[in-house]
Amino acid sequence: MLRTLDPELRRALVERVRYCHEMGIYDFYRRESAALDETSSSTSQSELREEMAARKSAVAPVIAEDALASVNSNPERSVSDPAAALKLIREDLGDCTRCKLHQGRKQIVFGVGNPRAELMFVGEGPGADEDAQGEPFVGRAGQLLNNMIKAMGLRREDVYIANIVKCRPPGNRQPERDECETCSPFLMRQIAAITPKAMVALGATAAKNLLAISAPMSELRGRWYDFKPAGSDASWPGSRLAVTYHPAFLLRDPRQKGEAWKDLQMVMKYLGIEPPKKAVD
Ligand code: URA
Repeated sequence: MLRTLDPELRRALVERVRYCHEMGIYDFYRRESAALDETSSSTSQSELREEMAARKSAVAPVIAEDALASVNSNPERSVSDPAAALKLIREDLGDCTRCKLHQGRKQIVFGVGNPRAELMFVGEGPGADEDAQGEPFVGRAGQLLNNMIKAMGLRREDVYIANIVKCRPPGNRQPERDECETCSPFLMRQIAAITPKAMVALGATAAKNLLAISAPMSELRGRWYDFKPAGSDASWPGSRLAVTYHPAFLLRDPRQKGEAWKDLQMVMKYLGIEPPKKAVD
């Protein structure tokens, strides 16, 4: 039988489960009888059963209560429209102060593009232009990314673009580990809402954070990775992720554009996009 939860306990539970979700933990299990095998010599089976029963009646109703049901799914899980889901995720992010990057930002750079995109690009983090305009990849690197997208035969508005962190790191430094980890659940939820067929990690920071592996670009590029965020819909088989050079790196070393183009061609082939005549310029 379910009991009504004490409002304060319910609030604490909701907070705890929400925190777990933000850390990427979605599944919760009720432990029923694990301790029965660990019978100590001083405790009889029947005593132990009584104790477990008492624990169950105290804990199980709390866990089974609608409190858990209401937070066990992210709010966007209740909607099937990806645009509506993204809106809910944005609302949940709020005026985020979860990590220190909020201190220096002008605005949160959530992500932009087609909520039903088949292709999603993930960069590192907003720079000064993005911070000022609230949109990813709008500066010089963004111009080059636009050219790359165009060269693939797509338009910027066809794809979805986001970053590992949503706030500008001071002085355009690399985002730190705790900042990436704090922001990551929101990016994962965006990916789960969009369910792209393919993703491209732009640069080593994006690749390392998405794939949780540390390797040089030379090893990360040129192959596919299966990618499916924890907690995403079971009916979605997941995305395929490719790694290529960050546009800012290509601006510094344009000789690598040919290599980046090879990566994009691999993506185009998978998405069934006809190879256009011209490569990245
Ligand atoms: N570099 C990034 O990684 N992301 C942006 O949005 C802009 C520049």
